[in-house]
Amino acid sequence: MDEICKFLAKNGEEVTLRPVISDDATQIINALRSASQERSYVLMEQYGKDVESERHYISRMDHRNNLLLGAVVSGAVVGCLAALQADEGRREETAHILQIGLHLKQTYRGLGIGSQMLQYAMTWAKEHGFKKLEASIFTTNKRSLNLFSNADFTDEGIRRKRFRIGSDYFDEVCMGRLLE
Ligand SMILES: CC(C)(COP(=O)(O)OP(=O)(O)OC[C@H]1O[C@@H](n2cnc3c(N)ncnc32)[C@H](O)[C@@H]1OP(=O)(O)O)[C@@H](O)C(=O)NCCC(=O)NCCS
Repeated sequence: MDEICKFLAKNGEEVTLRPVISDDATQIINALRSASQERSYVLMEQYGKDVESERHYISRMDHRNNLLLGAVVSGAVVGCLAALQADEGRREETAHILQIGLHLKQTYRGLGIGSQMLQYAMTWAKEHGFKKLEASIFTTNKRSLNLFSNADFTDEGIRRKRFRIGSDYFDEVCMGRLLE
């Protein structure tokens, strides 16, 4: 596959998908912070606390077994997808699984960019020998549920009250897709 992929979003803007580099750290943080307290995603909250830790995280990552993909419009990162080896690759038993989370700036949602990022990640996963993709999604996040079911992910069960945010509890759907 080509490492760099370009396409037109539904608003006509050209989007470039490419793996991120350490120098994208500031822009990634900005893209992730754009939705303030939305917290509709989980995986990417493991990192990205500040620019320095983000930079460090990208530079020390094993890029053979993990993908950090940026969506770039007019030179600015507008979204990021993380596809991370299960259990940080520490367990041989789960090393074939890649866990996916993604996030776009609010103004760039609903334009087909998330779907393209997911397609990119699926191709990348196959080429890197992974056998399964997983995603964890809040039951309230209808757009994300649609995104993953459109890409043939299936529901593998619900974990009740999996997250507490303030005084609210959220159920989480585990979705998975096997790769041939
Ligand atoms: C979830 C998210 C990544 C989806 O990316 P996106 O670029 O907005 O999604 P797309 O435009 O590719 O649309 C994907 C599907 O979502 C559905 N969708 C699009 N807009 C929608 C809306 N307003 N409401 C409900 N579903 C919607 C459609 O089924 C669409 O597929 P289709 O165009 O083939 O019908 C993005 O909206 C986002 O960053 N949300 C906040 C963070 C988040 O929730 N991350 C996911 C957690 S893992």
